[in-house]
Amino acid sequence: MNEITVTIIDREGESHELVGPTDMNMNIMELCKAYELPVLGECGGMAMCATCQCYLESETALAEQSDAELDMLDQAFHVKNNSRLGCQIQLSDEIDGIVLRLAPEA
Ligand code: FES
Repeated sequence: MNEITVTIIDREGESHELVGPTDMNMNIMELCKAYELPVLGECGGMAMCATCQCYLESETALAEQSDAELDMLDQAFHVKNNSRLGCQIQLSDEIDGIVLRLAPEA
């Protein structure tokens, strides 16, 4: 099975271990929604709403952020140095074991 494990810390500080497929072109926002975590993903993953914002809490090396992601984070609330848009993180072997904390709702 092509699966990885992702840890998501919710807004109450509770940790959730999610298992996701790496061969279905899925991203972190979609995985959170599949597990019914409180991630809205309003724009459907277009880097246009920031409701999927999370903070990277592990040392996982992620692909560089696109201009679209950086622009969106520029306008979002609660942005920190380690902010990322969940919809822009694809599930892949490289991010196995990643730890992300959900940003507060705007
Ligand atoms: S789902 Fe809208 S920016 Fe990620």
